[in-house]
This record gives sequence, C-alpha cells and structure tokens, in this order.
Amino acid sequence: MERDITTEVKKHYRKAALTGSCCSGASCSDPITSDLYNSAERELIPEAALTASLGCGNPAALAQLRQGETVLDLGSGGGVDVLLSARRVGPTGKVYGIDFTDEMLELANRNLARTEFENVEFLKGRIEDIPLPDNTVDTIISNCVLNLAVDKDRVLREAFRVLKPGGRLAISDIVLRRKLPDQIRSNPEFWVGCVAGALEMNDYIAKLREAGFVAPSIEFTRILSTADARVLLEPFGDEALALAAEMDGAIASGFVRAVKSG
Ligand SMILES: C[S@@+](CC[C@H](N)C(=O)[O-])C[C@H]1O[C@@H](n2cnc3c(N)ncnc32)[C@H](O)[C@@H]1O
Repeated sequence: MERDITTEVKKHYRKAALTGSCCSGASCSDPITSDLYNSAERELIPEAALTASLGCGNPAALAQLRQGETVLDLGSGGGVDVLLSARRVGPTGKVYGIDFTDEMLELANRNLARTEFENVEFLKGRIEDIPLPDNTVDTIISNCVLNLAVDKDRVLREAFRVLKPGGRLAISDIVLRRKLPDQIRSNPEFWVGCVAGALEMNDYIAKLREAGFVAPSIEFTRILSTADARVLLEPFGDEALALAAEMDGAIASGFVRAVKSG
C-alpha cells in the first residue's frame, strides 16, 4: 500500500510539474490552492513560480521568518515558498527545498534562475529521509505535503532531527475537522489530491508530540464548505458529488506549529 500510494503521488506531481495542475486535480480555481499570496508577495517572485503553486496556505508569511535564518521547505514543488522565504531571510540566510521528483526540481531551478537569489538550494530527496545533517535548520516550512506522506511519523521524526534546538516547525497542510466518508478515504485519487491522506487535528497534535515536539498548535486558515467540496468532487462524477453536503466544513487548510525545545 505504501509503495503504491507513493508511486501514484510521484506520478501525479511529475505530471503537474510538466503540465501545471492544482493539488486537488480540479480546475485551477480550486478551493484549496487559489488566492494564497497577496499582491505584494506576487510582485517579489516570478509569475511562473506563482503559477506552479500547488499549496494550501502561505507558510513563509505565517512563519514570520527572520533575517539570517536557515529554512527548509519539505516538498518544495515549483519553489514558490522557497523563493518567498529567500527574500525574507535575506543574503545572510539560506533556504533549502526538498522534493523527490526530478521534474519539480527542474521547474524550481528554472524559477530560481529567473531571480537574483544566491541563498537557495533545491535538493533531491524524500521528506521521510531528509538529506541534511542533525540540528542544522532554524525553521521548517511546507505547503500541502505532509498529507501526501504515508509514514507521517517518520517525516515528523526527520523534521525534528534536522531542526536546531529551539527550531520551529511552521507548515501549512490539509487538516480534517472530522472523519471523511469511506468512499473518499479509500480512493487513491483523493490521496494524491491532498485530501484522503490528511490527518484529523487531534491525531496531528498527538503525532507532533510523539516525534518530540512541544507546544503543538493548529490554526485553521480556510475551511471548505459544501460548495467547495462540490468543486473537488465534480471530476469524479455524480456518486462522488452526492457526498458534498456530508463534507461541509470537514476539510480545512491549517497552519501547524510546533517547537523543538532548546
Ligand atoms: C501538493 S505539491 C506542493 C508543492 C509546493 N509545496 C507548493 O506549495 O506549491 C506536493 C509536492 O511534494 C512533493 N512530495 C510529495 N511527497 C514527497 C515525499 N515523500 N518526499 C519528497 N517530496 C514529496 C511532490 O513531488 C510535490 O512537488
């Protein structure tokens, strides 16, 4: 099951890097990915990086990054949050993005080449096995990626390992406010679409504590209505659409925070 899901996730995001496609696989006005960045942010980075955005939040802004910090973006995709972070940490800081598909890394490097940033590096790797040494990162960001991982405990343990003591996890992710219908949870297309693999809030908090983090919290930044659920379900036909009302308010974008105590 783990291998199958991961293969599907890779396939989906390789294609997304080449063709452009939203996280949920719905149209690009999709309720998860649309309108994440304000006009000031949009002016700071190339349009192509914004177009490649597949996230569900704005972790670089919410994390309140400081000049000189070392930042790591888990599942950096086309690089939108890496580039926004590069601006925030300035030339004395450093930003790494990690992704496991060559196609996303190529897209991210093309977007980087359109900027002047010299403090950015995209690394090939799995977020379950982060290619950085222990205790080296000040802040970990991520945008709509943890939900895609099959072994979330392992990802969180790796995040904890690479953070410096006192370092922060500050990620945007899909978080469930209650259980989704079985038909959605068991459908791999909804897993690659960032929904079926999402954790319920209490499970997320428990996993953060188990990985060693303190002060975990989740703030909802967007809660999907029945109308939003209809947009996500539409490509899957009438049987799926009939579940929209049941999903009212169940899916949210959350800003997930925790600290590795110093
Ligand atoms: C929904 S997209 C989000 C991309 C980016 N964070 C953004 O906001 O545009 C998920 C990204 O995570 C990458 N990814 C998914 N699972 C991964 C894993 N286990 N290890 C490394 N990268 C992964 C995918 O290749 C894809 O680029």
